[in-house]
Amino acid sequence: MYYAKITGWGKCLPPAVLSNADLSTFMDTSDEWITSRTGIRERRICHCNFSDMAIVAARRALAAANVAPEELDLILLGSLTMDSLCPNTASLVQNAIGARNAASIDINSACTGFLYGLHIGTNLIKTGAHRKVLVIGGEFISHYMNWARRDVAVLFGDACGAVVLEASTERTGLLAARIGCDMDTSSAIQITNFGSAYSRLSDDFLYLGWNFEGQEVFKRAIKGMAFACEDVLMQTGLRMDDIHIMVPHQANRRILDALAKRLDIPEEKIMVNVHKYGNTSAGTIPVALTEALEENRIRPGDYVLMASFGAGLTWGAGLVQWGDRTVALQVSDADLPPCQQSALEILAPHIQRYKAHAL
Ligand code: UT7
Repeated sequence: MYYAKITGWGKCLPPAVLSNADLSTFMDTSDEWITSRTGIRERRICHCNFSDMAIVAARRALAAANVAPEELDLILLGSLTMDSLCPNTASLVQNAIGARNAASIDINSACTGFLYGLHIGTNLIKTGAHRKVLVIGGEFISHYMNWARRDVAVLFGDACGAVVLEASTERTGLLAARIGCDMDTSSAIQITNFGSAYSRLSDDFLYLGWNFEGQEVFKRAIKGMAFACEDVLMQTGLRMDDIHIMVPHQANRRILDALAKRLDIPEEKIMVNVHKYGNTSAGTIPVALTEALEENRIRPGDYVLMASFGAGLTWGAGLVQWGDRTVALQVSDADLPPCQQSALEILAPHIQRYKAHAL
């Protein structure tokens, strides 16, 4: 019986920062509204492709693990904002990093994509089918955003993170997970006008719509994540007091506070970076995990609780026992191509298109 030890971790944040003040230059919103309702102060906007962020995060995670790309036998990539419909983005990452012995799979489970990937990768290692798995989670959501929708556009940002899993006989890695999906609320977060469910002959084909029932998602998020967290504690025989740090999906500071209250977990045990990056969907957990390690908030042997929710409505939790190493073995010099534009300049054509459509 193998465990899937997390031996490498990495993140990629695009450099262009979009502040709440920037948003209020082209939509009817304010720093006061966004900060008080969500805790978000700024987010990042990607100036290249999603796969570029995923490649950088992957290279950084591989360096931290000191694993060569050829050693990987599987790449799982959680995202809903792929470079293209075909080929899948995991294979673009595979090609760029030279992981010639890997299989590559994209997982579209929205914000829960990384947690789903961690669960799948861990269990494929546990069965002996795979030995070294790269799990990536991230999003280029600014590209798919409807910039005329203030209720959605202020919430999200772009980022990517990755971890390396390696077969190990130590009791470490993801010890238990509970994942699920509230099928009756699939329309609560929905990107419309893209895909075969919509008219392919419409002039509006490239005008993406968003169905977004914020309050419904808010309630379901707390309920789903709390249920999943209690379930993984029960599976492992641990109590909330045993948890050293919680690394939850970062969608809204108020959701994190309500979750902490419901689970009776002290605020200082919760990793929070939503103020810096907004909701980066499948990117939130691997980015927050990497930052928790960089800030020395995780120690060898610690119990780390993860929880997520997103479109579907998918939800889940995972309980990880950290291994014996919290420091990267190597540091990669991989980086994104230089960015010459401000976030507002990058977004200008998108904003114009959505404004023109609204007229
Ligand atoms: O990872 C999964 C992604 N989903 C989520 O994270 C969604 C979870 N839900 C939430 O985080 C919250 O429900 C929101 C932040 C989306 C909204 O907060 P809320 O406290 O539920 O606000 P609300 O939807 O009730 O809107 C209150 C008011 C409305 O005006 P009226 O009808 O009261 O006059 C909105 O039109 O705020 C207005 N509003 C805004 N005002 C300024 C909505 N968006 C904005 C905005 N700026 N950006």
